Amino acid sequence: MKRKILITGGAGFIGSELVRQMGQSKDQVIVLDKLTYCGDLARLESVKNMIKFCKVDIADKEQLRALFDKVRPDYVIHCAAETHVDRSIVDNTPFIKSNILGTQNLIDVSCAFKVKKFLHVSTDEVYGEHVCGYFKENDPLQPRNPYAATKAAGEWLVQSAVKTHKFPAMIVRPCNCYGPWQYPEKLIPVVISKTLTDQKVPVYGQGLQVREWLHVADCCRAMQIIFRKGKTGEVYNIGSGFEQKNIKTVMAIIKLLGKDQKIIKFVKDRPGHDYRYSVDFNRLKSLGWKPKIPFEAGIKITIQWYIQNQKWLKQKQAKP
Ligand SMILES: NC(=O)c1ccc[n+]([C@@H]2O[C@H](COP(=O)([O-])OP(=O)(O)OC[C@H]3O[C@@H](n4cnc5c(N)ncnc54)[C@H](O)[C@@H]3O)[C@@H](O)[C@H]2O)c1
Repeated sequence: MKRKILITGGAGFIGSELVRQMGQSKDQVIVLDKLTYCGDLARLESVKNMIKFCKVDIADKEQLRALFDKVRPDYVIHCAAETHVDRSIVDNTPFIKSNILGTQNLIDVSCAFKVKKFLHVSTDEVYGEHVCGYFKENDPLQPRNPYAATKAAGEWLVQSAVKTHKFPAMIVRPCNCYGPWQYPEKLIPVVISKTLTDQKVPVYGQGLQVREWLHVADCCRAMQIIFRKGKTGEVYNIGSGFEQKNIKTVMAIIKLLGKDQKIIKFVKDRPGHDYRYSVDFNRLKSLGWKPKIPFEAGIKITIQWYIQNQKWLKQKQAKP
């Protein structure tokens, strides 16, 4: 019998890459997604005949229970979330609903239906900022923006279910991902789309924040290895070791697109903008994973993808 794997948020940026990778396997992949402004079935076009799609809001427990009753998943990989920090600063309500309440609903229903394994996708932002050094999995969570606070709350709910209900969950904390199909409100696709259309490229503050970048395909390969070999109750950082100041990333993209650096426009910094995130991912390395796509190559492939998919980019820019 095929194993049934439910992937929440499978129409999003990371979830869809995971579905494209896992959709080819012997397992039956079921995608659950609310299709918010960020979700898009176009990302699943190449695997649409190999997967099942269900439009469900995880914040609605009855909808979720009905879905579990129908499909009875053996495993759950939980990617669904509201994900944009700027939006959480303006209004955190949808983040609280999806990232906290939605996660609790998913835990409850997964427990009730005796799911065998649950992989919870968190973020390195739960640690807060680090001026130097690397965050280790046992470091305290000190989220500093509303999005990160809801992600930390979501993981604490998962961790508490592991302790109280022996819930068979693992948690991953990826660093910043980039690659094709990312919604153009995040740094890299914003810079590419603005540069391609000869608009000013906004950079927060002086662009001195440091981020660790990982290609989304590498991130999803890491998630699959953790899903297969990881230990229940364990947390795994997913990093790349490639750190760069945002201004350097912006300038590199503009240069690769052959445009003038004068299109950079420094704008008022995001309130509470974390200076730097960086993770120690030795625990993940011990499972036999390392990143395959260096940033220099990954960013070129990503830019090419956006050049070839400008119609999609335009549609997204038209949305709020
Ligand atoms: N992108 C990154 O760099 C990054 C880094 C670390 C962690 N993460 C985490 O990885 C996960 C995926 O991130 P992403 O970048 O693919 O996000 P995304 O915003 O591209 O996709 C999120 C998906 O979740 C769906 N969704 C949102 N609320 C939902 C709800 N209530 N019910 C059902 N579906 C819902 C959306 O429709 C969308 O398809 C998130 O949990 C995020 O916190 C992302």
